[in-house]
Amino acid sequence: MECRQVYADRMNRRTFLSTSAYASAGLIAGIRPAIAADADIEITVQPDGPEISPHLYGQFIEHLGGVIYDGIWVGPNSKIANIGGIRRQFVDDMKRIGVPNFRWPGGCFADSYHWRDGIGSPAKRPRTYNYWQASMPKGLDETETNRFGLHEFMQLCRLCGAEPYLAANMASGSPQEFHDWVSYCNAPAGTVSLAEERAANGDAAPFGVHWWGVGNESWGCGGDMTPQEYSTLYRRFVTQFPAYAPKPFLVAVGPRGHSKDLDLGWTNGFFEAMQGHRSPVDGLSMHYYTDFRNSPERVATFDAPGWYDVIREGARVENVIEQHWAAMGKYDAGHHIKLIVDEWGVWYRPGEELAPAYQLSQPLTLRDALHTAVTLDVFNRQADKIAMANVAQTINCIHSLMLAQGDRYARTPPYYVFEMYRNHMSSRLALMKIRCDELKVPSRSGSATMPGLSGSASTKNGTLHVTITNPSLDSSITAHLRLSSGNLVEGRGTVLTHADMTAHNSLDKPNEVELSSLPITVRGAKVEVSIPQRAVVLLELKMT
Ligand code: AHR
Repeated sequence: MECRQVYADRMNRRTFLSTSAYASAGLIAGIRPAIAADADIEITVQPDGPEISPHLYGQFIEHLGGVIYDGIWVGPNSKIANIGGIRRQFVDDMKRIGVPNFRWPGGCFADSYHWRDGIGSPAKRPRTYNYWQASMPKGLDETETNRFGLHEFMQLCRLCGAEPYLAANMASGSPQEFHDWVSYCNAPAGTVSLAEERAANGDAAPFGVHWWGVGNESWGCGGDMTPQEYSTLYRRFVTQFPAYAPKPFLVAVGPRGHSKDLDLGWTNGFFEAMQGHRSPVDGLSMHYYTDFRNSPERVATFDAPGWYDVIREGARVENVIEQHWAAMGKYDAGHHIKLIVDEWGVWYRPGEELAPAYQLSQPLTLRDALHTAVTLDVFNRQADKIAMANVAQTINCIHSLMLAQGDRYARTPPYYVFEMYRNHMSSRLALMKIRCDELKVPSRSGSATMPGLSGSASTKNGTLHVTITNPSLDSSITAHLRLSSGNLVEGRGTVLTHADMTAHNSLDKPNEVELSSLPITVRGAKVEVSIPQRAVVLLELKMT
């Protein structure tokens, strides 16, 4: 296959890529004809491979800008279709992607939140300070009404079929407040007074909360602590944890993974300080933002270097996961403690919000959909290490799946990636070996190389699901996929792409970027498919 130098140049070097590898090189620019290249993909089914937990496809919602109020909560008297105050369209779309969980109430907000403010008669709930009101544009109010509280959150979870993941307030709350929250949620009816209070507020049956985050970003907004200080406080928060069913999954605050030094110091420092103590830790929370806040990169206006830089920076999460996993292994040789990537997404500099009050909202494009796909493929490939991941944040925020303002509503391009990838949930990871030319791409810092394709594969109930991303702006790839043993009987393809790399769905034009079907040829154990440039593809293949 001849390679021509265009914006993204497929290098002559053909490599086996089973994981992503990124490196720098010199600048390239030029015309952008659509040219074709070839790739060989070999899939090996692993009957004993790791299960891809559905929780890798989790969501995060915080009391921030337009996330809860307007995004999710419109109120029972709203003209907008709702179920007891919760936006109906939001529920429908969450069900459509099989949402496994919601992390709530924050984020930085969690470390200032007192759960009692959000229960009882709505008319009597206090108006309180919200962490985010300090960064609200002048003249706009972000006071917390507490209209959406614990029971409303649980109702949202029930409506969507999602599990709750609650984050405790460590910065301004006490262990007692936390333990009362646990009892209020999980104590069986008719036992302690807190269970009676819960029943009086409309929920006799316990909520059965399994996932508990012990603080959030305690190295920053969650208390500005050292890992040693945090570990001391962590132990005070968990040793008297009320022992109601279900057995809790306790998540300790972990590193700021997108830091230049990967923040390995936090992970090492925390586990070192926990040595000799017996307080349980089930998960370590890692945050990984593809952080372009301090760069000129804009959300919806960009060029080829910006396209590739964002996707490459997203893929770096794989290395960050592996490094922290190795550090954790020094203290927990059996790897009983898992990683929880409970905040991830691309974060651009401010200036393109839906409206001033919708803090941190971004008009995400096709580029962010490819970033989403590359990230979710990493999570799948690392399924043995990660117990949960939560995109930040579901609606009207950083890496959102939806935008909503009043009665206007749109699904962003990343939403459709979640729709395609739901097929991997609760499936078994298969080995995927991709052989294709590397891409030499332009970058703001010169040029770089990146894998020509990336992806992941899994099997469930006799069906093989393969997801593949072609980041090239210039060339489609004809992929020849082969199953190492067994045969395929039939299959279908789905694709997310657009002629314009900056394409996005706005409230005025909500259907600009959508899924469409992609023709594929299935013959015996082989599949041939042409993967368009700047595309994410899903193959659903029935095996014999
Ligand atoms: O997602 C927005 C904020 O980013 C969260 O509140 C905080 O945890 C993180 O820094």
